[in-house]
Amino acid sequence: MEYWVRKALETYPTPFLLLDLSKVEKNYLALKSSLKNAEIFYAVKANSHPKIIATLERLGCNFDVASKGEIEKLLSLGVKGHRMSFGNTIKKEEDIAFAYRNGVRLFAVDSEMEVEKVAVNAPGSAVFVRIATDGDDADWPLTRKFGTDPEDALRLLLLAAKKKLIPVGLSFHVGSQNLNPKSWQRAIEKAAKVFKKAMRYGLNLYLLNVGGGFPVKHRKPIPSLQEIADAIWKAVDENLWFVHSLKLIAEPGRYMVGDAGWLVSRVILRSERMNENWVYIDAGVFHGLAETIQNFEYEILVLGKECEEKETFHLAGPTCDSVDVIYDKVRLPKTITLNDVVCFVNAGAYTVEYNTHFNGIEPPKTLFVEDLVGGKEETMSLATVERSTL
Ligand SMILES: Cc1ncc(COP(=O)(O)O)c(C=O)c1O
Repeated sequence: MEYWVRKALETYPTPFLLLDLSKVEKNYLALKSSLKNAEIFYAVKANSHPKIIATLERLGCNFDVASKGEIEKLLSLGVKGHRMSFGNTIKKEEDIAFAYRNGVRLFAVDSEMEVEKVAVNAPGSAVFVRIATDGDDADWPLTRKFGTDPEDALRLLLLAAKKKLIPVGLSFHVGSQNLNPKSWQRAIEKAAKVFKKAMRYGLNLYLLNVGGGFPVKHRKPIPSLQEIADAIWKAVDENLWFVHSLKLIAEPGRYMVGDAGWLVSRVILRSERMNENWVYIDAGVFHGLAETIQNFEYEILVLGKECEEKETFHLAGPTCDSVDVIYDKVRLPKTITLNDVVCFVNAGAYTVEYNTHFNGIEPPKTLFVEDLVGGKEETMSLATVERSTL
């Protein structure tokens, strides 16, 4: 990627997110193969760039959507409603109705009022209930705000049936960037108990949505996708063997696009304040790096200074807001200075989606390796010509 970053810097000002679509394709195929017959619903919220959607649509991927805005975007790109799952458990009524009018028939719920809203605005649709997880071992936990306990999940499934919806199964999310395969195992064990009880009540559940959470390499060690997939299948075999024709689905966001992009910025100021070193760059908490507010640990590379001795700095964004501090303590090259290029490695997910124009500062643009002049396609076709002329 470093080569393409340097290439992009010849033409484009910072900050930008440089993405490689071939990596997105590779990630989709890896997920498909590890999760065997599971259906993949890409969580559009991770990065909704039309080129990413088009790439995944071409490969046959389905989509997990959070709002009317995402549905509209997908529809405009030719994705049909039946390939979408409305996975947000906090939906506006008009968004549910809009989804239904446009062919969406699969909805997530985790509360009584949400079941009622779906029953009224998307009659006869299929629903799955999200159960809560503890979020342990996730660098970006999704606890408290979502999901319900197993007893309540059963009650909601029965309520859905009573309201003439089709209760099809359960979902969970182990928290984003989860580093422990056992998290999926524990959640499946919990879900299996609800499946069993639901069966006794005559419900024919068949769908298990194992959510997202698949991690991307940053500073900490991560399990491989295969280790997580093995944990999922083992837990399914041991706990859900009684479900006839179980349909497994997954909603990866981060895994699909995280390592397909680098966020590239420049130093705009270095200063010393009360004996402490500060570096300010042209990306920040409001400009591509929102996840650092919970100390999400990106690997940072300062171009040309990779091997230099390091020192501790405060690293901050460009706005007049003291929240705009990316890391309070981070090791950066000792000589880092004005105009140095600071890259956030594997930052394709949940970066530009959070962009704001706060302080009137332009957010990072998205560029593609495939579009660079003399870029990948050109290099590849050159290689093909060279091969064919040999
Ligand atoms: C309902 C739902 N599904 C899937 C995802 C994607 O999770 P991840 O990016 O960790 O794969 C999210 C993320 O917030 C989510 O809320």
